[in-house]
Amino acid sequence: MLTTFGCQMNQADAQRIRGILAGLGYTETEIESEADLILFNTCCVRQHAEQRLIGRIKSLINAKKRNADLIIGVAGCMAQNMQGELLEALPLVDLVFGPNDIEDLPLLLQRAGREKTTGNFAPKGAFDGESADGIILHRPFSAMVNIIRGCTNFCSYCIVPYVRGPEVSRPLEELVGFITSLAEKGVKEITLLGQNVNAYGKDIGMPEGFATLLERVENIDGIRWVRFMTSHPRDFSLESVKRMARLSKVCEQYHLPVQAGSNRILSEMRRGYTRERYLELIRAVRENIKGVSLSTDIICGFPGEGDAEFNETLELIREVRYEAAFMYYYSPRAGTDAASMPEQIDEETRKARLARLIEAQNTIGLEESSKLVAQTFEVLVESEAARNEGHLVGKTRTGRSIDFPGHQNLIGRFVNVSVQKARNWTLSGIMADNKEGN
Ligand code: SAH
Ligand code: SF4
Ligand code: F3S
Repeated sequence: MLTTFGCQMNQADAQRIRGILAGLGYTETEIESEADLILFNTCCVRQHAEQRLIGRIKSLINAKKRNADLIIGVAGCMAQNMQGELLEALPLVDLVFGPNDIEDLPLLLQRAGREKTTGNFAPKGAFDGESADGIILHRPFSAMVNIIRGCTNFCSYCIVPYVRGPEVSRPLEELVGFITSLAEKGVKEITLLGQNVNAYGKDIGMPEGFATLLERVENIDGIRWVRFMTSHPRDFSLESVKRMARLSKVCEQYHLPVQAGSNRILSEMRRGYTRERYLELIRAVRENIKGVSLSTDIICGFPGEGDAEFNETLELIREVRYEAAFMYYYSPRAGTDAASMPEQIDEETRKARLARLIEAQNTIGLEESSKLVAQTFEVLVESEAARNEGHLVGKTRTGRSIDFPGHQNLIGRFVNVSVQKARNWTLSGIMADNKEGN
């Protein structure tokens, strides 16, 4: 049983962990009492994420009593951050290993059966060669591909560079080969991943490497849709927007985390762009990418954020009108610069600001969703609907999920769906005429 928290980087690591475990003969279960191995792939970007994990592990005390052979393991960023300390803090845990140790999992598991075990957490120099053969895809038609790992930005609030190490790009030819072999296995959609995909190639002498990579992927037969995340507004050049606009496979889904609307706060956050330059990027994206869907990440209550500065963030979301926003109140992370800034804002204020942000964005999101009603979209059918028998869920190029009635043999195919209803983020509709049926 494997539970993953956090960002897409962790989802991609889960894809690798699943492949390795399957190779060792493990079969996956969602039922706790059946499991011989319970793994948590963790996140430590906010305190809340850590607390949830601690609660979950403590609740496993009876499972551990029932099954003496049960191995409880903690992987991911919180493991990398706390390392051996985690074994002391959580006595039920048998195994702790970080993102750098995934390839060593067979050995680590053997040892964890006998004694408390930790990985060595040391970063490996090169990008570990991940092959398409060893990959177990949750959906055989869709894959996540790590193109750059780590982060060297050191935004003042963020712990990720400390746990994931510096940016390392995976060599271009290796990536093209990897994606080609995924396509040969039937993958139609790929999501290119990194904390800052726009920095792809910079560390290996390819300044506009991300656009170059997208152009190469455009020519891989079998791949129909290409998504990417996360973009960093500072490294997203207007030139690359133009190059991307010419590529038919690149989906019109742009996640552009802004974090804050005030120039002073952006500078304290060390984001490397101003409100004006960010809005210029948004304009360029809207002009060049027809039908684009925009989303963002926002932090409110950063140390020293005044009411007027917070209002600049509110104004910015009203001006841009994102289809979706991931909004958080600032969470101090030990070791980061912002955590030791003097003007920390009390939790009540941080929470109240978050509530105002969410309320404003809910209104905008619903208005934007309503505009999609009566429009028809091509979707890649992903799965059956969880709570709606006889229904399927498909995803549009812009990343929106639509629920519609249909037969499960359509899973993994592209069909046209026309939207009938919008309920905030979720859409429902019916199939429109589908000539191709690919
Ligand atoms: N690399 C991405 C973000 C990865 S972390 C980027 O730069 O945009 C995902 C999101 O978590 C961030 O965009 C930010 O909004 C949020 N986040 C990161 N550190 C945080 C902190 N200390 N408190 C609250 N939110 C935080
Ligand atoms: Fe964190 Fe900034 Fe790196 Fe994103 S770019 S992971 S927010 S340090
Ligand atoms: Fe969390 Fe690690 Fe991602 S801290 S956001 S899982 S890189």
